[in-house]
Amino acid sequence: MQAWQFEINNNSAYAQHGKAWEDALLLRFEDGLRLPNEETCAGFFLDLKNGRCEEIRYASETDISDTPIVLTAPSKVWEQLIKEKKDPLFMIMSGTIRLEKGSMMKLGLQRNAAKALLAGAATATHEVKKQLAAACAQLERKPDKTTATHGSPHTTRKSYATTSRGLDFDSYPMQLFQKAKQLGVWNPAAINFEQDRQQWLTFSEEEKDLIFRLTAMFMGGEEAVTLDLLPLIQVLAREGRIEEEMFLTSFLWEEAKHTEFFALFLRDVVQKPFDMEHYHGPAYCNLFHGELEPALQRLHHDSSPRAQLLASLTYNMIVEGTLAETGYEAYHRMLTEQDMLPGLREGIGLLKRDESRHIAFGLYLIERLLTANPKLRDEFETEAGRLAGMAIDVVDEIFGPYELMPFNLEKSWFADFAVNQFKKRMNKLIKA
Ligand SMILES: [Fe+2]
Ligand SMILES: [Fe+2]
Repeated sequence: MQAWQFEINNNSAYAQHGKAWEDALLLRFEDGLRLPNEETCAGFFLDLKNGRCEEIRYASETDISDTPIVLTAPSKVWEQLIKEKKDPLFMIMSGTIRLEKGSMMKLGLQRNAAKALLAGAATATHEVKKQLAAACAQLERKPDKTTATHGSPHTTRKSYATTSRGLDFDSYPMQLFQKAKQLGVWNPAAINFEQDRQQWLTFSEEEKDLIFRLTAMFMGGEEAVTLDLLPLIQVLAREGRIEEEMFLTSFLWEEAKHTEFFALFLRDVVQKPFDMEHYHGPAYCNLFHGELEPALQRLHHDSSPRAQLLASLTYNMIVEGTLAETGYEAYHRMLTEQDMLPGLREGIGLLKRDESRHIAFGLYLIERLLTANPKLRDEFETEAGRLAGMAIDVVDEIFGPYELMPFNLEKSWFADFAVNQFKKRMNKLIKA
């Protein structure tokens, strides 16, 4: 423990990232931590202050109630976390490690400090030193060196699925396609915004600001997913996956309608031209410009399963499944309880139904790719944790600027909601 404390206090990454960390932390061992004298205790207690670790000691049962952040897992999981290059945030967000006490939002924002803390634990133990170095290297995203070798050369098609094997009507993508034809046919231009226009004038400036902010996020987000989906469709089409491509035609059409829907809301309800780009903060830009676009654009020259997996993870699991779903929930909580903006609510209800099919397709694709390429699972989990942390940064960026949240909303509630959405889906994939 002394060696671990020494490592933490001599780690410049922790000194930098842990500056804002002021709460003591308890790493609780569900099955008890065995002490050298063969007795057991609750786990490790870490007293952390502004980039320094004041103390590490064995935790008593009373520490559990007195410590602000308590993370719980079986001892096997803690061991894995340190020895096997596991990402701590991913393990918390996927439910492998339970956040028993403390705020998910705070922890998500402190993820780099958490990594540095655990890095100290491993370097303190001589035999795992080498493994830890590899784990830390993994935490930094490596440039894709495989790009040039995985592009699929164009091959001339020899036959068609419909005339050789026949369309697989029972396949999951075809089932989604049938649903899309029944449920996805709605017209944003037919939504009546008359009442919304009148009610808009009754909102306070703060309330309007939050609706602008969320709408600016969705406007950019829907446009981004419309622009970025094509390379994935192209790759799957090239592989002859006609059923998947057929569903994706409805997917892209729906994203285009979502883009239209928010643009109509701005044109017909807000009714004034203004620049909304300033609502896109650094966290938002990091995710949409820095991750989503490159992950999908890479498919133009790298159609490997790995590239497809990371593209679908970023697009379906993070942007749609974690971030957008949290945004819909915010709209819902703001407007439904007060029975306001019925046109906006109607459109979001329809749009949410479309998105559930998109996310379902993403999960299907990820599961298919992971089953065929089990070696990709570790990298997938590490990336999922890293990107989920970025999604939490965006949630913080949206709700952070308000001293008192308009519409009586609670900031931390949304980070918990985002984590639960992520956890729900990730658990399905882990069990698959
Ligand atoms: Fe959408
Ligand atoms: Fe979508």
